Amino acid sequence: MDKVLIQGGTSLEGTVRVSGAKNASLLMLAAVLLTDEPCILRNVPNLRDVHFFISLLQGLGVEVELLSPNIWRIQAKKIHANPPYDLVRQMRASVCLMGPLLGRLGQAALPLPGGCVIGNRPIDLHLHGLKKLGCTVELKNGIVHIHAQQLKGNHIFLGGRFGSTVTGTANILMAATLSSGITRIENTACEPEIVDLCHLLTCMGARIEGIGSPQLTIYGQQKLHGADHTLIGDRIEAGTFLIASLVTNGHLIIDQFHTQHLRALLHVLENSGAKMNITANQIEVFPCLNQLTPFEITTLPYPGFPTDLQAQMCVLAACIPDLSLLTERVYPQRFMHVAELQRLGVRITLEGSTAIVQGGQRLSGADVMASDLRASAALYLAGLIARGETQVHRIYHLDRGYENFEQKLQALGAKLYRTAE
Ligand code: UD1
Repeated sequence: MDKVLIQGGTSLEGTVRVSGAKNASLLMLAAVLLTDEPCILRNVPNLRDVHFFISLLQGLGVEVELLSPNIWRIQAKKIHANPPYDLVRQMRASVCLMGPLLGRLGQAALPLPGGCVIGNRPIDLHLHGLKKLGCTVELKNGIVHIHAQQLKGNHIFLGGRFGSTVTGTANILMAATLSSGITRIENTACEPEIVDLCHLLTCMGARIEGIGSPQLTIYGQQKLHGADHTLIGDRIEAGTFLIASLVTNGHLIIDQFHTQHLRALLHVLENSGAKMNITANQIEVFPCLNQLTPFEITTLPYPGFPTDLQAQMCVLAACIPDLSLLTERVYPQRFMHVAELQRLGVRITLEGSTAIVQGGQRLSGADVMASDLRASAALYLAGLIARGETQVHRIYHLDRGYENFEQKLQALGAKLYRTAE
């Protein structure tokens, strides 16, 4: 296992190119199962989760080839319906194999995903939608067995206690592309990664109306064909670097992503006094830490404030004198980073699903433990501003979702290096 050692106190400077979107890549690696023809996916980030998903595809009989860094050729000529359980169990996102397997083969068998460190993550909405498409669902020995004689279009409401579901929307949408008839899904997730998935599916011959809205209409087809698609940039990685620039009072240009995908973050930062120059695909962030005022955020499904940036925003709140409030409405228990940030000197307390941060204290380096992907990023950011050395342990979480994070930070002047435990 590796850890990272961070020497805090450097302001980041320079230009960083954002990698392809992790969450889009996982959905698309599932979508290629919908056709037996080859698909080319470009701008796929080189991440642990991606390699993991590729192994899952190989386990299903899919042919994969890395054409050049970040470009994959994938052909699901002959596949079977039982992905290797040992792999599926290790990655929650493998749940989005369900829709494509049902569309293509009429059956799927996957272990029911267990609890997760960021909270309870049920799949009731996925199963509700699939049943509406005519599937039968049976749970045997922890494995969900789903069958469909024929998928039939239907009218589906896909909302739950916490609003829409991203991978649930993807599953129903992908299954519906290979159904008979018309499917109308209401309360769909509108995340940019779902929009990007719709674009890939359209390139594959799917007919989808309402792309980007909370109501999608899918005209089922008998067959989809191969496609060549370039993934969008990762808005969460971009947001993480944006926050890194602010907390280190740095001067960064964050390049090659759709800045409109970060509207909710940019709105909060502008109101807080951040100095930024924003164009369609790039943000320049100027040193302005001393001018920032406290903020309040509430995480919500897109276009609301992304839960995947909540932990990093706790670090920004720690840098701003006075009280900031961060409320989690997507994963109410997603606060594993709180105790670790306290070790670095952040004055942060929890009231229900709200983190209250009294900012303005100087942080000092400590040994901290990464608990999940975005919490890891928050600890890196805190380490960059803490006095002295911070050691972040269990950083394998970070490798799941940030491509070359340490190299990118080093190129911007950060003093950090990775070493074995
Ligand atoms: C996706 C993202 C993840 C992000 C999350 C929320 C991928 C691979 N992962 O996860 O990075 O943090 O969206 O933006 O794209 N829920 C139910 N029943 C269900 C499904 C979900 O109650 O059947 C609840 C969840 O517990 C959660 C909320 O709905 O409280 C949103 O979850 P969902 O959008 O499904 O998250 P993921 O798709 O797993």
